[in-house]
Amino acid sequence: TTTRDRKEVRDYIRTIADFPHEGILFRDVTTLFADPRGFRMAVDQMIHAWAGQQIDRVVGLEARGFILGGAIAHQLSLGFVPIRKKGKLPATTIAESYTLEYGEAVVEIHDDAIRPGEKVLLVDDLLATGGTAAAGIRLVERLGGSVMGCGFVVDLPDLGGRAKLEALGMDVHAICA
Ligand code: PRP
Ligand code: ADE
Repeated sequence: TTTRDRKEVRDYIRTIADFPHEGILFRDVTTLFADPRGFRMAVDQMIHAWAGQQIDRVVGLEARGFILGGAIAHQLSLGFVPIRKKGKLPATTIAESYTLEYGEAVVEIHDDAIRPGEKVLLVDDLLATGGTAAAGIRLVERLGGSVMGCGFVVDLPDLGGRAKLEALGMDVHAICA
């Protein structure tokens, strides 16, 4: 067994101070995604968390949720649906606004992307205040979907996102804090 074999998902993530604003410790997952072993480990661990649950669709949050969600959907032979920042989706959309650790934003989903009754897994790279994920949950639920769970690589528990999502009745899973 080499040192490399014992590397965990968290070991592939680097922290960049003062990005995008002073005082923010930005968790940079590009180094995780760039590593073949790290990326596979992260995707496999996220899938494992929902083993045995029926899921009809994977919904990913822009932008890093697309990378994880696409890989998860492919591995589960499911379709992938993007939730994007305002103005990016071409067809008819519904929108939700939210606040996050360092700003405010609006996210959208195509209004025909989820069918009523579909069981959805919501995926993103990181859970901070939970504002982004909560907006994503509202979008899916407005289309009649049920969010079975929310999966993340990183949870920053001090920012209250997990508590916020659990208060909405969500099953939350993150690989590391
Ligand atoms: C980051 C991250 C999550 C969100 C988490 O994305 O990828 O989507 O913030 O924060 P929250 O829990 O406080 O809502 P960001 O908004 O920076 O957008 P990007 O992925 O398009 O860069
Ligand atoms: N999104 C919100 N807070 C973040 C952080 N500290 N690092 C990376 N993405 C984030």
